[in-house]
Amino acid sequence: MIYLDYAATTPVDERVAEKMLPFLTSVFGNPASTHAFGQKAKAAVDVARREVAAAIGADPAEIIWTSGATESNNLAIRGSAELYVSKGKHIVTMKTEHPSVLETCQQLEKEGWTVTYLAPQKNGLIDLENLKQSLRDDTVLVSVMQVNNETGVIQPLEKIAEITAAKNILFHVDAAQSIGKLALDIKNIDLISLCAHKSYGPKGIGALYIRRKPRVRVAPQIYGGGQEQGMRSGTLATHQMVGMGEAFMIAHRELQEEQKRMCTLRDYFLTEIAKNKSITLNNNFDHVVPSIINLRFSIITAEAFMKSNPELAISSGSACQSKGIEPSYVLRAMGLSVDEAKNSVRISFGRFSTKRDVETLLQALSAAI
Ligand SMILES: Cc1ncc(COP(=O)(O)O)c(C=O)c1O
Repeated sequence: MIYLDYAATTPVDERVAEKMLPFLTSVFGNPASTHAFGQKAKAAVDVARREVAAAIGADPAEIIWTSGATESNNLAIRGSAELYVSKGKHIVTMKTEHPSVLETCQQLEKEGWTVTYLAPQKNGLIDLENLKQSLRDDTVLVSVMQVNNETGVIQPLEKIAEITAAKNILFHVDAAQSIGKLALDIKNIDLISLCAHKSYGPKGIGALYIRRKPRVRVAPQIYGGGQEQGMRSGTLATHQMVGMGEAFMIAHRELQEEQKRMCTLRDYFLTEIAKNKSITLNNNFDHVVPSIINLRFSIITAEAFMKSNPELAISSGSACQSKGIEPSYVLRAMGLSVDEAKNSVRISFGRFSTKRDVETLLQALSAAI
């Protein structure tokens, strides 16, 4: 098997797993307990919080632990919508966001909020003029992801943040795919969703960055013991947090080296694939992370390719919503036809991908065609 689906999830890096282990067995105290067992666990959680904060240039007090980016997106959108309802009931997002953003917005619509879903341009990027025009006096929040999980498209966060800041509108960024792929400048961003399992950390742990200066708050969506400044109750999962901290520290430290390696693999793939006239790229690499490639076939179906190459772990559409062969709504929003979207696949490289993996993929592609 060759794993080429790093955008769906990544294995836990062995350095991370090793770091986590003692926090499952010997350091098992509840971080909220005042005795020595608890305090030892709390100290480890504090270190991890600092590591996660450092990866995005935030203050540790701005990091709220969650179970992953799905929960962070729910907490950011619903939590701010509820808390700032006196300002208005209008939210702006994009049609190409992750289901955890779109479904949360759709639920809010059922409860009386109005949501504008901006279409991307053909290249997947937000149209900043459209964004400006969509903003109203009662707009509370704009939510736009940094790196799209299906296409790798990078949205111009700085420009969006300038627009929202000028109008005093909260700006939320789903950065689930970002850490270890590209840097994130938090200036003028109010809320950022993060998760560990796309960055060689464990599944089931994430965080929400909530800006402190000026102070932003969200209404809790889970009630209980009042952990995480009352915004997210629940016993802190020390081992998971230690894993996320270590994974983010490594990803941050190795970012530039990893980016170079991804560019080399991507460039090799693109040079070879350009010889194959029945494959079209769905992404334009001017504004796309090098590790995600989305392509479509013109003479075979994506389903046929995947079925005839079970040794290749690649994805049609996004794994998070793969219900059979539904055409990808992200590609449809970028203007692809139903058939074009159905015949597209996502290939995503990562830390353990090698040139040999890419060669095998290229051979499979040319054999199939
Ligand atoms: C962009 C994006 N947002 C959110 C999520 C959900 O993250 P999690 O699996 O941590 O809930 C994913 C992936 O699953 C994603 O790719």
